[in-house]
Amino acid sequence: PRDLSEQIKEVTKESHVRAENTELMLSFQRGQVTLPQYKLLLCSLYEIYQVLEEEMDRNSNHPAVAPIYFPAELARIKSIEKDLEYFYGPDWREKIVVPAATQRYSHRLRQIGKENPEFLVAHAYTRYLGDLSGGQVLGRIAQKSMGLKSGEGLSFFAFPGVSSPNLFKQLYRSRMNSVELTAEERNGVLEEAVRAFEFNIQVFDGLQKMLSVAGNRQRQSSTDSNAVHGKTLQIPGTF
Ligand code: HEM
Repeated sequence: PRDLSEQIKEVTKESHVRAENTELMLSFQRGQVTLPQYKLLLCSLYEIYQVLEEEMDRNSNHPAVAPIYFPAELARIKSIEKDLEYFYGPDWREKIVVPAATQRYSHRLRQIGKENPEFLVAHAYTRYLGDLSGGQVLGRIAQKSMGLKSGEGLSFFAFPGVSSPNLFKQLYRSRMNSVELTAEERNGVLEEAVRAFEFNIQVFDGLQKMLSVAGNRQRQSSTDSNAVHGKTLQIPGTF
């Protein structure tokens, strides 16, 4: 396939299957997602989208970013903030907890925003098209699993600026295909998309591990914590 949208789907196909089969995503699909799981996921999404959207904004005039820049339709950060406030209360900012894997992901986003903005398309594709695809089903499942009232704490999954996710995905793909890339840049984008999936898988595994550690600790009634509090804290051995 010659179109970037087809190539990117093809090269990430296997990664998508692996992402779907992470413990966290399986919990979602089985309708067994728990509040602690979802809250931790929101914390990581906050870290990820904050950097992704900052870098998209900063590079919005870059020729490889401009065609796929849809802040009104896609931007998630306000929705995530709303959900975090719903679950953690007004001082949610002090309660954000993210695994090291999430910091590696956001660090990479920051780096490519500065050094290779043309790779942002790979990351935007991986997150936003995923949110507009399987994410739509997962939102409804999450609501049921956690017994939440209509949409409460679930703004992340709602795209009020997108009336038809399928039509929007078509538009998005055609915009991706309009981006002019050298052969080398295109290969870089494809590689970065596989990496983007890998980062997501690591995030899911990381927060799942955090939950099992927290659960074990609770059972042992230990006060020690393996979780990293606050996004400014560095984890030794991260990079
Ligand atoms: C597309 C399901 C997790 C990224 C899709 C589609 C479905 C789906 C049904 C539409 C396929 C199509 O249009 O041909 C799921 C389920 C998941 C899951 C059930 C987990 C329970 C993820 C994750 C990511 C992701 C974790 C990335 C972080 C994508 C992307 C697309 C997509 C980028 C668009 C593919 C394209 O049309 O090029 N997903 N997904 N998905 N998903 Fe997922």
